[in-house]
Amino acid sequence: MAKKVTIVSHCFSAFLLFYLCGTVVCVKYNTGASVVPGKLNVHLIAHSHDDVGWLKTVDQYYVGSNNSIQGACVENVLDSVVVSLQLNQNRKFVFAEMAFFHRWWVEQTPQTQVQVRKLVDAGQLEFINGGWCMHDEATTHYIDMIDQTTLGHRFIKNQFNKVPRAGWQIDPFGHSAVQAYLLGAELGFDSVHFARIDYQDRAKRKVDKTLEVVWRSSKTFGSSAQIFANAFPVHYSPPSGFHFEINDDFVPVQDDPLLFDYNVEQRVKDFIAAAITQANVTRTNHIMWTMGDDFQYQNAESWFKQMDKLIHYVNKDGRVNALYSTPSIYTDAKNAANQPWPLKTDDYFPYADGPNAYWTGYFTSRPAFKRYVRILSGYYLAARQLEFFAGKKSTVGHTIDLGDALGVAQHHDAVSGTAKQHTTNDYAKRLAIGASRAEAVVSSSLYCLTSKKLGVQCSAPTSAFSQCQLLNISYCPPTEDGIPQAKSLVLVVYNPLGWNRSDIVRIPVNDANLVVKDSLGNNIETQYIEVDNVTANLREFYVKVYVGVSPQQAPKYWLLFQASVPPLGWSTYFISKTAKKGKNRIGFLSYQSSQNKDTIEVGPGNLKLSFSSESGQLIRMHNSKTGVAVPIQQSYLWYSSSQGEGQDSGAYIFRPHTPPNIVSRSVPFKIIRGPLVDEVHQEFSSWIYQVTRVYKDKEHSEIEYTVSHIV
Ligand SMILES: *[C@@H]1O[C@H](CO)[C@@H](O)[C@H](O)[C@H]1NC(C)=O
Ligand SMILES: *[C@@H]1O[C@H](CO)[C@@H](O)[C@H](O)[C@H]1NC(C)=O
Ligand SMILES: *[C@@H]1O[C@H](CO)[C@@H](O)[C@H](O)[C@H]1NC(C)=O
Ligand SMILES: *[C@@H]1O[C@H](CO)[C@@H](O)[C@H](O)[C@H]1NC(C)=O
Ligand SMILES: *[C@@H]1O[C@H](CO)[C@@H](O)[C@H](O)[C@H]1NC(C)=O
Repeated sequence: MAKKVTIVSHCFSAFLLFYLCGTVVCVKYNTGASVVPGKLNVHLIAHSHDDVGWLKTVDQYYVGSNNSIQGACVENVLDSVVVSLQLNQNRKFVFAEMAFFHRWWVEQTPQTQVQVRKLVDAGQLEFINGGWCMHDEATTHYIDMIDQTTLGHRFIKNQFNKVPRAGWQIDPFGHSAVQAYLLGAELGFDSVHFARIDYQDRAKRKVDKTLEVVWRSSKTFGSSAQIFANAFPVHYSPPSGFHFEINDDFVPVQDDPLLFDYNVEQRVKDFIAAAITQANVTRTNHIMWTMGDDFQYQNAESWFKQMDKLIHYVNKDGRVNALYSTPSIYTDAKNAANQPWPLKTDDYFPYADGPNAYWTGYFTSRPAFKRYVRILSGYYLAARQLEFFAGKKSTVGHTIDLGDALGVAQHHDAVSGTAKQHTTNDYAKRLAIGASRAEAVVSSSLYCLTSKKLGVQCSAPTSAFSQCQLLNISYCPPTEDGIPQAKSLVLVVYNPLGWNRSDIVRIPVNDANLVVKDSLGNNIETQYIEVDNVTANLREFYVKVYVGVSPQQAPKYWLLFQASVPPLGWSTYFISKTAKKGKNRIGFLSYQSSQNKDTIEVGPGNLKLSFSSESGQLIRMHNSKTGVAVPIQQSYLWYSSSQGEGQDSGAYIFRPHTPPNIVSRSVPFKIIRGPLVDEVHQEFSSWIYQVTRVYKDKEHSEIEYTVSHIV
């Protein structure tokens, strides 16, 4: 009984002191602060850093499965944040990864969608970055950066009619000049915020108060491509002691005087001390606190309750001003402060977070996955063009899944090669599914476009064209299987680039008596090259893995010819058996071992490469047209990685144990000469095979290497 009386009387006093009642809602805490000039303003940015795959797959993170790996559920984050924002109109939250938000959004009821639109319109929920993921900046291609950002921004524009203003690259492992240029100049972001810059650079910038700069990364565009860049003084988490995820060990603000652990004054004191420490390394009287961390706000009230109290009591104290903010509000305040900013040019690479901890290992981690992403990126471009040219009605399949998979793959733990193996497999699976749907688009569009040209009505059958995705291992059944007498194999070559292109096409064939004609019926010059044993062995192994069939014997030859294709267009070639047997064997391969000269020169055109006939090493490149001659030395070297000496070498960090070891300085070689290309085949060791190609009409040479495990 006595207990009950106590509670009532406490609530009554609390009402008098703290409740602020409007006409409809009563809020217990005054959290409506905005920027106060002349005071130190602490901008609280509520955020959750949600990796689009890392220790778990993107699906596992979204639904919150496999929590024994990492307790992370993005669906919970979004569900609970939206409820918390509606409880107090002063609260704000920023969200970056549209691959997650999009999934969540399409699952919501129309009523929830209305509420969320209100939150966005009121500025309580702000999309920052707004791409499909928070892309890596070193191993991504700039076209992929644009594509994945476009995907997210288009969704935001369509659903909310908003354009994100702030770049939020808080976690990527260093920052590129291209990023600053693309996001600053092209996208119209006015700020970009990040945590990871070199530790020594950061230490110096703290002393000089140059963590925040105007970043002008492009020599070409200068000040027309600048952006306000904010490197955080510590990390993207809050200052120590202000981390409020449910079940974490933190000290809550306890403002009930009847509680034994009542601590308002202490917490306010801690807050002000942390703010002053940060202000000491920051220009202007605005500092940003990143109130969040990886997969936080799974119970958003846990954070917002504490922040409500802190804002209320800190502002009541009055020494500093705390407010709910966003990167855009923060940047406006910085701009209004009219402060000159230091200038930063070029990039923030490489990134080290401590001695011997250079995050440069990921530049080459999982190279096969990097290649796959790059190849599909080009294919995605071509597929979208063809889809557009033929019209969606005429095509089957779609490019949406490939766009989605590529968007996810640009994440800073995806193409970077730093995700777990099962997550990387999941990325590859998404790409493969997306690619097969895009392949249907390409086949049906090309069929329609080529038959339209012939005046035929197109009905988009998928089987009209076959595509060979495993040409790299000489697997292409339509060309291998042989061309019947008196029939032609029709080959369509598409050029997605905006300029004319002439390139050598290589297809695997078993017949050395073929003729290639262009669409006007002119004979095209051809060359045959024997399929080498390395390719044949890879084919044997991988066709079983990828295609699930035991392959026939590898085709005997590569048939080469030069295709010329107009910009955004295609050219058609017809391949058939020649009537005159044996006539077409000009340009057949010739193995040529070293002659008695010191050097051997290869190249059917102006460009010549010279190899030492003794060691087999490439020694010189010479262009007989321009007269430019360059001495060259080429070697393969390998590092043994540092393990057990403190910082280990790994997927992220490159730390060699010793200076590099040279594989071999003496390499036997085989030369293949022909009218279109000369090739030099070299086996540097049992695990390195290299083919150097010099084309008749190219000013550059091409080196393709196949590298296996170091033995
Ligand atoms: C995730 O959980 C599922 C279901 O429990 C399990 O089959 C799977 O092996 C788990 N994945 C990983 C990578 O642990
Ligand atoms: C402020 O910065 C100076 C110079 O870096 C340092 O010596 C001092 O300890 C700092 N003060 C606080 C309160 O962090
Ligand atoms: C061939 O290409 C496929 C698909 O792009 C790729 O997965 C595979 O690793 C490549 N194989 C070799 C030996 O390069
Ligand atoms: C592309 O090639 C065609 C045919 O050779 C030529 O007429 C045209 O001018 C070229 N276009 C460009 C942009 O080079
Ligand atoms: C390929 O291997 C076979 C035997 O495995 C050998 O007879 C042949 O000479 C090799 N061909 C080339 C081009 O190295």
